[in-house]
Amino acid sequence: MLAGGTRIVVVMVGLPARGKTYISYKVSRYLAWLGVNCRVFNVGEYRRKLIGAKMDHTFFDPRNAVATEQRLACATHALADMLQWFEAVHNGVAIYDATNSTRARRKMILDECTRFGVEVMFCESWCDDDDLITANIREVKRTSPDYKGAKDIDAVMDDFRQRIEHYREVYEPVGGDGTRPMAKGRYPLPPTAPTIAEYDEQQVSYVRKINVGSQIVINRIASYLESRIVYFVMNIHIAPRSVLFSRHGESLYNLDQRLGGDPSLSPNGRKYAEALPGLISKLLGDQPLTIWTSTLKRTSETTAGLPYKKMQWKALDELDAGLCDGLTYEDVERAYPEEYAMRDENKFEFRYRGGESYRDVVLRLEPVIMELERQQNIMIVSHQAVLRCIYAYFLDIGPEELPYLKIPLHTVMKLTWTAYGCDVQMYKIDIDAVDTHRAKPKAHRRTARRGDSSPASSRPMSARSPALGTPAVASPRPRRGVAASEPPADDGVPSSL
Ligand code: ATP
Ligand code: F6P
Repeated sequence: MLAGGTRIVVVMVGLPARGKTYISYKVSRYLAWLGVNCRVFNVGEYRRKLIGAKMDHTFFDPRNAVATEQRLACATHALADMLQWFEAVHNGVAIYDATNSTRARRKMILDECTRFGVEVMFCESWCDDDDLITANIREVKRTSPDYKGAKDIDAVMDDFRQRIEHYREVYEPVGGDGTRPMAKGRYPLPPTAPTIAEYDEQQVSYVRKINVGSQIVINRIASYLESRIVYFVMNIHIAPRSVLFSRHGESLYNLDQRLGGDPSLSPNGRKYAEALPGLISKLLGDQPLTIWTSTLKRTSETTAGLPYKKMQWKALDELDAGLCDGLTYEDVERAYPEEYAMRDENKFEFRYRGGESYRDVVLRLEPVIMELERQQNIMIVSHQAVLRCIYAYFLDIGPEELPYLKIPLHTVMKLTWTAYGCDVQMYKIDIDAVDTHRAKPKAHRRTARRGDSSPASSRPMSARSPALGTPAVASPRPRRGVAASEPPADDGVPSSL
């Protein structure tokens, strides 16, 4: 996906409470899931660490000269760390999450990144929907570490609105009218960089998302990866919705512990299919729903009784076990001992002879994920390996852990969106089913996980969920791609200021 030496920084732009951090984390999760090195550098976290968390609006007043210097110091510190990160990873995408609200600030970032051979693409979120901004402040900003312990909600709302007004005084949207004399073509290397008077943003890469996507402006997006990022940013939305997942009901192959195939449901699997409509209507009421299944019999048999629009996706078919299709794990171990051991060594990368690897499945699921981001209420009925990949996307789980996730049979998982990620509730229907999960053999367990900076999230879901109606919440893996070294992320909600 990423050519050697590709280094891109997505520089977020926007007034406070415009969803910059929300977009940053979504883009970072998407890219990390596709296997791209990706990290968010959130200047607000640097400010809280280096200067302090509880700054009232006067700290953001452009007339406050001391604070203006301090804010610039935080921004340059984050920028320096980001450039150092590129030196370490060689290629990847960084997301520089701050308001970056003036041309001068953006030009400073552009000059510095160009000097280090990092391509810059600005991503602005512009929004004048007062009701939405008020909701964003109430739901997200109020609980930020900046207001920890504050009791008076009105005072918090008022302080944050004043903070926005300070930024508005100096805010310059990305763009320009093309009348400045900056040379066309590649952004020049210092010392030939334009002066601020010459700097013309019509000559640089940017995407502007206006009012959550009612309008999108795209300018000079050059590379493949930039265009993927733009397409993703275009497709994400914030309308409330439910996304549900379930494996098919227990199949005849599951009973024998056989891999793959196109078997029908077992008697217990059919009971699950019969019980499913009751649970789904309990979870969704009369909300509309579209069901996506694979093209395999066991998923259409599972959804037969569900009274909703249905669509089949070949991309939702189970991981292809190639030569091993139809065998049990014991058969595979006996017939192909070396390959069996190789799979345990690196299950994510291992490709069955004539079949697929988990990485292959992730790549073929990319259009499903993109469409899922565009849609509202969707239920996916698919298979163990495929649902592991989808679950890992939403919960930001890396390739070491992904192939071992527990996605039990006869269980519906419901995603609930939180400020910057999602939680999962699991609803187990009380109908027996075999366990098809094969744990990682102890000899192959590694202690450290790549890119994993969070100790709190090693068990993505409980092995057994409570009875129907009492959901268990599985904690997401928070912020896999956040700058975690310098300064350490604080324990609260990120903010880009
Ligand atoms: P700050 O500059 O204070 O860090 P921010 O711009 O990073 O603010 P977020 O913290 O990301 O804002 O705000 C999150 C809220 O923004 C969420 O409630 C989310 O629903 C909402 N949101 C997401 N995308 C957009 C958008 N394009 N426009 C407006 N609001 C959005
Ligand atoms: O056993 C059920 C099943 O869906 C098989 O069809 C598939 O090969 C397997 O799970 C995938 O799980 P794993 O990657 O752990 O072998």
